[in-house]
Amino acid sequence: MTYKDEFMKPYQFANGLRLQNKIVMAPVTMQSSFFDGTVSDDEVRFYQMRSGVGMIIVEVANINEAGKGFEGELSVADDRFIPGLRKIASAIHSKGSKAILQIFDAGRKTTRKILRGTQPRSASAVAPHRDLQNIPRELTNTEIKQIIADFGSATLRAIKANFDGVEIHGANTYLIQQFFSPHSNQRNDQWGGSVYQRMNFAKAVIAEVRRVADKKASNNFLIGYRFSPEELSKPGITMDDTLKLVDVLSNEPIDYLHSSMGNRKRTSLLEKTNHETLNSRILKTIRGRKPLIEVGNILSPQDANEALQDGASLVAMGRELIREPNWIEKVKIHDEKSIRYTLSPADMNLLGLPGGLQRELRTGFLNAMNFTDQETSDFLDKFGQMEGFGG
Ligand SMILES: Cc1cc2nc3c(=O)[nH]c(=O)nc-3n(C[C@H](O)[C@H](O)[C@H](O)COP(=O)(O)O)c2cc1C
Repeated sequence: MTYKDEFMKPYQFANGLRLQNKIVMAPVTMQSSFFDGTVSDDEVRFYQMRSGVGMIIVEVANINEAGKGFEGELSVADDRFIPGLRKIASAIHSKGSKAILQIFDAGRKTTRKILRGTQPRSASAVAPHRDLQNIPRELTNTEIKQIIADFGSATLRAIKANFDGVEIHGANTYLIQQFFSPHSNQRNDQWGGSVYQRMNFAKAVIAEVRRVADKKASNNFLIGYRFSPEELSKPGITMDDTLKLVDVLSNEPIDYLHSSMGNRKRTSLLEKTNHETLNSRILKTIRGRKPLIEVGNILSPQDANEALQDGASLVAMGRELIREPNWIEKVKIHDEKSIRYTLSPADMNLLGLPGGLQRELRTGFLNAMNFTDQETSDFLDKFGQMEGFGG
């Protein structure tokens, strides 16, 4: 069957990996793994119900114990997690989607409580958001090298669990971003200093993941890199820094770049007079060297086509595919009018949303899911519409 929609056409990466269409499920943490990070059946079902898109980027998995960021987090820190991860990959493959595992270390974006009493650690001993309970300690050079090796071991486990690739999580203020940010990285050794030196950790992680993939995976194993373009903290990451990073990453041995945003059309939060979208500036910097995945408030088939017209190679959706597991199926049978853009709390079980995700959506994401119930509208009336979330 042929489709008028550009996003329904297959996509082939330079390394040969072929996607059946250009829709990507963005990584969405469900806080629904067992206490130690073992995959739960609810998670497997969630992914199985959403197979059919081009590829699914599975939520962040921690690559080591000390890098755990929150309760109910998926883990790839030990071989014992491989059988569960294999179930997720197989569920994703059931309707032809490719399975990508997002891998990370939370760095300072965690707490002693989550780490069962252990102090968080980061590039430098700087607290996030003035959280004085959880000031991290500075990582030693030996520990940094171990974390880089942990990214390699996590990649090997993803390969053994039949994933088609990994996405290195360099976004959302986790450890890789902490090394890039002048706020959290105040080191003067090889891992800190100038904007280019602050990229050294990311580059070392990429090199290690690449090394393992070249040795242990097929030629078309995918390596992606996700980044967040700006930080509001002072000092913080600016677009000037990010465009330098994007230029460097465009020459690195990775297969795609993924810009993390709450709205793909967003402009700079810091340069108020610059009205060009961040993604347009990013695309101009990449100059066709890598495919870019755009994400952020892409909801309808029209939105997806528009993002491709604007230069994205692939379009990712998070919240919309949480609300509508049959999005691609409905487009396929030309039933676009029945695509859900709102969510009733009463349908959350029906849509296969695990308990941890349901709780997350009803708290932190209450204003961001288009809930239809009275309790939500009363809450938003009382406290006002919160700012759309960034990322
Ligand atoms: C419940 C939830 C969990 C998320 N978890 C992750 C995650 O594990 N890793 C990540 O990089 N982004 C995560 N994000 C951000 C999304 O990948 C995406 O960038 C964001 O939701 C904007 O896209 P959307 O408008 O299509 O939802 C999460 C978002 C939501 C709503």
